[in-house]
Amino acid sequence: MKRKLSMGLMVTLCVFSVTLLSAVSQADSRKAVKKELSKPVIRGGIVFKNYCTLCHGERADGIARAAKLYGVANLTIKPADKDYYFRIIRNGGTSVGKSEFMPPWEDELSEEQIRDVVAYLKIATDGKRRGEVVFKTNCILCHGLKADGKGRAAKLYNPPPANLTKSDKNDDYKRMIITLGGAAMGRSEFMPIWSEQLSEQEIEDVIAYLRTVLVHN
Ligand code: HEC
Ligand code: HEC
Repeated sequence: MKRKLSMGLMVTLCVFSVTLLSAVSQADSRKAVKKELSKPVIRGGIVFKNYCTLCHGERADGIARAAKLYGVANLTIKPADKDYYFRIIRNGGTSVGKSEFMPPWEDELSEEQIRDVVAYLKIATDGKRRGEVVFKTNCILCHGLKADGKGRAAKLYNPPPANLTKSDKNDDYKRMIITLGGAAMGRSEFMPIWSEQLSEQEIEDVIAYLRTVLVHN
């Protein structure tokens, strides 16, 4: 009876410490993401959501409710330098020879909000940087902040999370294992199925980011 009880206690303790470990690591990963995504970018994301998504779409890709209204105007926001963004956002489309349906925001937004939304656009329009955010939000617990396989939870898994800086797999393979998970590829079941949580675009973005972390030697 006593032995049974202490076994039960042991199991409970084990489960508890694993839960604790993952809670600590998750807090850690959130901290890393927060540090990485400086506050202006987060605030800029909120400004964008409130004032800009109606026309430009949630991802600034022009897939938006209002798209039909502006006919030929291409509502995709393309990568550009900051000065251009500042100019068109402050003074409207006509100031850069574009559609008059892009309003001037100078009177509506504070200078700080305009700076923040520009910081946000620098990331939102760059697939690699979006992918970096996806990676740092979802993958570092196992694969590590540097993608070298040394995440805080790495010790829990055998085989360990892959060192993605030394991966010999091509993009197609990565797309499959990220989308379908490790088990479907005859690999560790602990590599999760990401199609349940990430959009196709986010998966493409994270693959683009992974290309930038490869170390050749
Ligand atoms: C009422 C619709 C509408 C709203 C709301 C709107 N825009 Fe625009 N935006 C446009 C149109 C139309 C264009 C011009 C497209 C063209 O002429 O090709 C444009 C162009 C732009 C461009 C230039 C894109 C490029 O690649 O050249 C940027 C940057 C931009 N908008 C940022 C913003 C930001 C930031 C906000 C929110 C503060 C915003 N827009 C809100 C309609 C809108
Ligand atoms: C819970 C832990 C865990 C998380 C979170 C995780 N992975 Fe994995 N991943 C693994 C493990 C374990 C392997 C190794 C599988 C094996 O060797 O059998 C792996 C393997 C991979 C591989 C194969 C690499 C190669 O060279 O073979 C890729 C690519 C990959 N992960 C990408 C990702 C991406 C992108 C994310 C985040 C969206 C992610 N992983 C999140 C555990 C994880």
